[in-house]
Amino acid sequence: MQQAEIGLIGLGVMGSNLALNIAEKGNRIAVFNRTVARTEEFLGEAGDLAGQVIGCKTMEEFVAAIRPPRPIIIMIKAGDAVDQQMAALAPLLAKGDIMIDAGNANFRDTVARFDRLKDTGLTFIGMGVSGGEEGARHGPSIMVGGTEESWKRVEKVLTSIAAKFNDEPCVAWLGNDGAGHFVKTIHNGIEYADMQMIAEIYGILRDGLGKSAAEIGSIFGDWNKGRLNSYLIEISEKVLAATDPISGGAMVDMILDKAGQKGTGKWSAIEAQNMGVPATAIEAAVAARSLSSLKGEREAAEKIFGKPEYKFPVAYGDDLKKDLELALFAAKIGAYAQGFAVMAEASREYGWNLPMPTIARIWRAGCIIRSQFLDEITTAFTKAPDVANLIVTPAFADMVKESLPALRRVVAASVSAGLPVPALTSALTYFDAYRQGRGTANLIQAQRDFFGAHGFDRLDGKDFHHGPWGSGAATF
Ligand code: 6PG
Repeated sequence: MQQAEIGLIGLGVMGSNLALNIAEKGNRIAVFNRTVARTEEFLGEAGDLAGQVIGCKTMEEFVAAIRPPRPIIIMIKAGDAVDQQMAALAPLLAKGDIMIDAGNANFRDTVARFDRLKDTGLTFIGMGVSGGEEGARHGPSIMVGGTEESWKRVEKVLTSIAAKFNDEPCVAWLGNDGAGHFVKTIHNGIEYADMQMIAEIYGILRDGLGKSAAEIGSIFGDWNKGRLNSYLIEISEKVLAATDPISGGAMVDMILDKAGQKGTGKWSAIEAQNMGVPATAIEAAVAARSLSSLKGEREAAEKIFGKPEYKFPVAYGDDLKKDLELALFAAKIGAYAQGFAVMAEASREYGWNLPMPTIARIWRAGCIIRSQFLDEITTAFTKAPDVANLIVTPAFADMVKESLPALRRVVAASVSAGLPVPALTSALTYFDAYRQGRGTANLIQAQRDFFGAHGFDRLDGKDFHHGPWGSGAATF
């Protein structure tokens, strides 16, 4: 029997969809699942594609069915289960075989797994896959980390299944060991910020301007035809238009306002902090999800402090609609600029040589944050791949100049109405602080020197590093 080009373990929703996508693009694939019943069920679901699938009952059979060096995608729950699966698989494999973790792994685990296999002759790929269930089935965005040699072995199959933007596949090898999973983590951090900012604008329209879900949906629908055109705005429009089959009202109005999170957004904020890169919009979005989960506390606090009138001080009209659109656009630029800055620093810290234009390019389709906007980021980074920050590229500097006044007006109005807009505010203050040539950290340095003799540098460069206050300890 003709051997498979690739193998896949784990026939959950994501694994099944990825396997069907691989088969549909003309690649033979071997599959294995912990329970044989699920493998059989999957072969039934595969329909016409079943001829391309080798369903295996044992791991030995599975390994033998794949053409060496064997690329094996492991699509199971991130964490310990991946290590257990790898340990069970490793003794059956041969030199050059590649275990591929396609889950949402922490890149630190990926680096550790990669290192653990170093002297065994086996290798590892950490593969970020974005696009949810639909993406896995019809074309995800794929971020690959591992050796270049292992990438060469999987390039053809992955290119065939990836989403396409203007015929260009949304898959790339981004660097060694944890590069792919790191980039996926930052993708998710940006995803959190993008979603939070959209939710804040929704809050302004709902609570500050009294718009119904359907009305807000139709505003988002209009915006989706303009510069905010993106998958997240598109699905927000659809969500807001949906009717609850039980109450008959808007579906979104019946959903508990507690947001879940599985960790990737938090990891991107943590890694940004670890490297000293400001990623304030991402941090604000993670914190907003945590705050959302304190439903009981929020309700109790509302009783103590009362509920603001939430009266947005500007009447809704075409000008305000335009302002809200531009404000969201400006804030979005801030969030993406921060995400890319985190990746640039990680690239230096971990020696990955992350290709910024390529990352923007493979996010243009397939993934959750896909948008027209990412095409503009691709162009900006292609012209200036080593720029310190996206917002200082000529094209984005112009966009910021155009949209920042709207963000300022919208944040000011929201704050005065008592509407919480933490991610929009963080993006605004990020711009304000980033472009402030002379900031206020001179006072922080003086305070540090006062209480801890930490020293400071002088503006005039003179070799004189302490203030005339002696040791702060003397004041106790
Ligand atoms: C994607 C998504 C996907 C998923 C995450 C985020 O790129 O396809 O990011 O990976 O939605 O699990 O989930 P949480 O919001 O639960 O952290």
